[in-house]
Amino acid sequence: MLIDTHAHVNDERLMPFAADIHDGLKDAGIEKVVVAGYDRASSERAVLLSREYPAYYASVGIHPHDSDSASADDYALFGKLSSESKCVAIGEIGLDYYYDLSEREIQKKVFAEQIELAYSLKKPIIIHVRDAYGDALKILRDSSKLLAYGGVMHCFGGSAEVMREAVGLGLYIAFGGAVTFKNFAKSDVVRAVPAERLLLETDCPYMTPVPFRGKDNRPEYIGLVRDKIQEWRQDIDVEEVTCKNAKTLFNI
Ligand code: NI
Repeated sequence: MLIDTHAHVNDERLMPFAADIHDGLKDAGIEKVVVAGYDRASSERAVLLSREYPAYYASVGIHPHDSDSASADDYALFGKLSSESKCVAIGEIGLDYYYDLSEREIQKKVFAEQIELAYSLKKPIIIHVRDAYGDALKILRDSSKLLAYGGVMHCFGGSAEVMREAVGLGLYIAFGGAVTFKNFAKSDVVRAVPAERLLLETDCPYMTPVPFRGKDNRPEYIGLVRDKIQEWRQDIDVEEVTCKNAKTLFNI
């Protein structure tokens, strides 16, 4: 069975279909889905979904895009929500210098604060990084003592060198629909990830894999990600290995 370790069923576009999507999981060979929060409201929706549907799990956190909205109140709320057994991670958190929707200094501060929060709550972190691997690694290195519960570099787009450093810090590496794109140039990185650190995700409704480009992505398309990675990883059973890894990281 497959585990989608990063899905935004809590996105406004998918939320109306949360029940339909859940009904279809079994037929698509999917056992569990981690619904990732990205701000206060989406984190609350993720937790609601995890309460209502057995296969949905939740993460709560503030995305770098919304860093400038982060407040102590949000962290207190995340602390409260994290006490629920199906709230399995803090995220997505990180740095995004591609869109730069929040000031970089604020992004860095809020990223570091949420790493601390996750440690105090004994939760792994889900990390979003775009065009900011240098600064993100610096923060992760400086916080290495706070990474005891692990984490994942979601939608990984960095070099093999960055991957190796992240793995050295105890982090997992997740790939999604981008691996099916014609211009995906990181198959060497996918090949180099240690088997015990590899994860699959969709990041739906974004990152829709080929041949469904142009439509909203859904967890049910994760098989296309597995198939592509399996082509490059003849050494392992990608589905079996990534399912086991997801269960280990998120304790599910
Ligand atoms: Ni995401």
